[in-house]
Amino acid sequence: MKIEEYASLKPYNTLALDANARYLIIVTSLDLLCEAIHFANAKKLPYLVLGEGSNILLRGNVDKVVILMRTEGVSIDSKGHDSEVFVTAQAGETWHPFVQCCLSKGLYGIENLSLVPGTVGAAPVQNIGAYGVELADVLHSLQVYAPESRETFELMREDCAFGYRDSLFKQRQNTWIITAVTLRLSIRPAPKTSYGGILEELDAMKADEITPSAVAEAICRLRQRKLPDPAVLPNAGSFFKNPVITQAQFKRIQAEFPTIVHYVVNDQQIKLAAGWMIEQCGWKGKRLNDAGVHTHQALVLVNHGHATGTDILALAEEIQGQVKSRFGIRLDIEPTVA
Ligand code: EPU
Repeated sequence: MKIEEYASLKPYNTLALDANARYLIIVTSLDLLCEAIHFANAKKLPYLVLGEGSNILLRGNVDKVVILMRTEGVSIDSKGHDSEVFVTAQAGETWHPFVQCCLSKGLYGIENLSLVPGTVGAAPVQNIGAYGVELADVLHSLQVYAPESRETFELMREDCAFGYRDSLFKQRQNTWIITAVTLRLSIRPAPKTSYGGILEELDAMKADEITPSAVAEAICRLRQRKLPDPAVLPNAGSFFKNPVITQAQFKRIQAEFPTIVHYVVNDQQIKLAAGWMIEQCGWKGKRLNDAGVHTHQALVLVNHGHATGTDILALAEEIQGQVKSRFGIRLDIEPTVA
């Protein structure tokens, strides 16, 4: 097992924050994962598991054993009922190539999650979601390792307490390490195009037919237009969650701001577009030192060069304060702060 001491995590987080890990271990198998945990215990240090580091804000140096999950492998396990197929991917697989691999094999259900950054193993933690689909919609089960009991076992979707950008793994960090994910996909195409912008993009592409591949391409084009490529402009995707409020709260806010962008969740709840509120506060394209708000999507904070985790958090606090005083709404930070 190769162990690096005081290793820079800059290449391993998409905000490109220059923090050091006390120890860094790259893990390519379950055996190595167990060894890495054993090492952390021996050093009396906590561990931190990272996938692609696309949903984390490093506040400063990390006095932990940082474990980079790089396990690989995809298997099409068995045919379920009717048109269902179970696909299992190891945690270290990169999400987008995995989506493309499924599409190329005629396995559908995750095309709307094209180009979401990160690894397969990190996807359930925040229940990745985009363009009308959430991971929880297609997740069947997870293989996890519990460092305390040193056991591996399977968790079913119902066990995972999935919510909007939320799961058991986010609520109870460091209890389980996700080692593999099994999805229930379909050989029958069922393109989902109701999220704003998809049909228009398919039109602009002059797609003859609405196939899952055409939807995937439309979503890639939409995302590439709005969201910055971390390799060019470091970022961690949406930095805030879209707040979910009650209908009664919503009526009060809408009376004052009739054009507020919102989505009905159910008869009781409304989700507000945080990006719209941030833009209304004048933050789109603005910066505070090297921490900035993206020009094309105000929900995304970016690192213009030498921002630290503290700079990003200072900008986030400034935005939270202004949104709170203008709309009376508290914005919650989406990435994990470590
Ligand atoms: N809007 C603005 N100004 C902005 C951004 C958004 O006015 O700067 C308004 C527009 O009216 C727009 C609406 O808000 O139509 C919604 O914007 P968008 O479709 O870009 O979606 P979002 O709610 O801002 C969420 C996810 C994204 C996901 C998109 C598409 C969260 C926290 N974010 O963003 O996820 O890609 O929907 O489904 O739920 C991520 O989690 O990292 C992420 C990028």
